[in-house]
Amino acid sequence: MTDTISKVREHYSADGLTDRIKAALATVTPETEALTVAQLAPLDQFHTRGILATAELARAARLDASTRVLDLGCGIGGPARYLAATFGCRVTGIDLSPAFIDAATWLTARCGLSDRVTFQVGNALHLPSEEAAFDAVFLQHVAMNIEDRGALYAEVRRILAPAGRFVTYDLVLRNGDVLYPVPWARDASANFLLTENHTRTALDEAGYKTVLWRDDTQVALDWFKTIIGAQPSSGPNLGLVMGPDFSAMTGNLARNLRENRLGVLSAVLTRS
Ligand SMILES: C[S@@+](CC[C@H](N)C(=O)[O-])C[C@H]1O[C@@H](n2cnc3c(N)ncnc32)[C@H](O)[C@@H]1O
Repeated sequence: MTDTISKVREHYSADGLTDRIKAALATVTPETEALTVAQLAPLDQFHTRGILATAELARAARLDASTRVLDLGCGIGGPARYLAATFGCRVTGIDLSPAFIDAATWLTARCGLSDRVTFQVGNALHLPSEEAAFDAVFLQHVAMNIEDRGALYAEVRRILAPAGRFVTYDLVLRNGDVLYPVPWARDASANFLLTENHTRTALDEAGYKTVLWRDDTQVALDWFKTIIGAQPSSGPNLGLVMGPDFSAMTGNLARNLRENRLGVLSAVLTRS
């Protein structure tokens, strides 16, 4: 394993995560009752604007029940469960973090979705899939942890069907230094953000054409304003996954956006 991959894995190591989630959920829903995708959203949608962003991008990707979806860097599986529950499609989730995959698998069983959503530990740069195996690939808030962006986009293209859609949703560098910690990195060693222009160049060079390219920075800022003013949700949230410094990480992300150090980019692409 390369040094940078080990640093990223360490950032998302989350010791005893499944047991901690089980204990927290037991206080709100008895083990005998199914959990719902909506109920888990504050805990398992690990990206700016949470389930709202997943829902919007899913519509842009035009999924249906026959779409074979890969959620790459799936975290604890919230987006994968949302896609399967909403569109009836089959979803494979792959993530570097064994603790996240364990939690994703348990939560999916509790939602009654294990027949359509499966997970495995893996590295986005070396996917255990055949060429053209997926009709849609989701990559939400993951590329910023991956140093070799060219290799990442080439590997996604390899496993994407010729008419398939690649949905990528990420932070991009703007002006000035990143203030740490942020949700994906406690310091610069796990942070591999690119500017919007460099992202576009890496995608062009890897052989994609653009279906949708949208700056979502202002909608993200508006969303941060609403969550800062709102009551915290009563059930478990992402602080349980990432630890007590998660609110400082989120606060810094909002500040990085406000001060134009970072931006938010949504894109849908196909193979050129
Ligand atoms: C901020 S979380 C986003 C999780 C999920 N996409 C979501 O939106 O809920 C970033 C995820 O990317 C995963 N990740 C980072 N580098 C990876 C790699 N090289 N291969 C696979 N997963 C990776 C991390 O383990 C983490 O779960």
